[in-house]
Amino acid sequence: MSSKISLSRYLVEQQRVAGHIPAELRLLLEVVARACKSISHAVNKGALGGVLGSAESENVQGEVQKKLDIIANEVLIEANEWGGHLAAMASEEMEAIYVVPNRYPKGEYLLMFDPLDGSSNIDVNVSIGTIFSVLRMPEDDRGVDEGDFLQPGRQQVAAGYCVYGPQTTLVLTVGDGVAMFTLDREQGSFVLTQENVRIPEDTREFAINMSNMRHWDEPVQRYINECLQGKDGPRGKDFNMRWIASMVADVHRIMTRGGVFMYPWDKREPNKPGKLRLMYEANPMAWLIEQAGGAATNGHQRILDIQPSALHERVSVILGSKNEVELATSYHTPKV
Ligand code: AHG
Ligand code: MN
Ligand code: MN
Repeated sequence: MSSKISLSRYLVEQQRVAGHIPAELRLLLEVVARACKSISHAVNKGALGGVLGSAESENVQGEVQKKLDIIANEVLIEANEWGGHLAAMASEEMEAIYVVPNRYPKGEYLLMFDPLDGSSNIDVNVSIGTIFSVLRMPEDDRGVDEGDFLQPGRQQVAAGYCVYGPQTTLVLTVGDGVAMFTLDREQGSFVLTQENVRIPEDTREFAINMSNMRHWDEPVQRYINECLQGKDGPRGKDFNMRWIASMVADVHRIMTRGGVFMYPWDKREPNKPGKLRLMYEANPMAWLIEQAGGAATNGHQRILDIQPSALHERVSVILGSKNEVELATSYHTPKV
């Protein structure tokens, strides 16, 4: 159908609208989308493609890697290293940054990704995803190093995720709202299926791993306890709960119908600020959520304002429908 708008056309139009995105960034996003398409094919093959199960190795976070974690990481690196649009990449699955090899031209962008989010769901055929974030190299920088990546999330120039579920959906922002693209497998291209995504400000649905309740801090206990009291409690309404254990899938539900997602600090690992990673999980999701009218904090401050100090830094996350995020945040002490 001629009225269908492909991702390529959407990006070309974003480039033309007052030079909203430069040509190099457009190219970069096309390449990331192509990599996601290829990951989607691998995910779909499942056992037939020999992609399920453990790789019997550990990443820098001390997590056991699945075969698909490694495959997705390689797909993203190989797709992006030669195009000339990037200076370096960083990934959940690599301890150090990956500088574009000297045999290829270097560009001005930095790409970060969680190649395969929701790894515990791979083998059980539940939705998983890829999350990515794009920054610009700091100006007047002569050589790229890890320090160049340590920019607050508000400086992202593009962010998105791809959810590999019953459909493969790419969700993207370049700072001009949020657009969703569905993979048309016959055509082999992403087609625009929703523009100007808006998250309802109010919700009756929360997403949190309830099995950790006894380990949470008081403000999170209070917020969830009040939701659980339903109509008879201080909130005066009943709440529903969802927890997919793939951040991409939980955030995608919130993008679609609202809700609040939390992965707070807890006492199991008191020295870590949370489970999720700031640079390639929380920041891109926070920007997408804000661009769709929602909010994202760590309980004390806006996630996008956090000054990172390490590539694999972790963070507490509260994100989703604005009024709920603000209420849960108000139970914490603000950062002074
Ligand atoms: P990853 O698979 O990239 O390590 O991320 C998993 C994350 C996130 O997707 C999800 O919200 C959370 O871990 C689930 O954690 P629990 O298993 O503790 O519920
Ligand atoms: Mn993840
Ligand atoms: Mn991952």
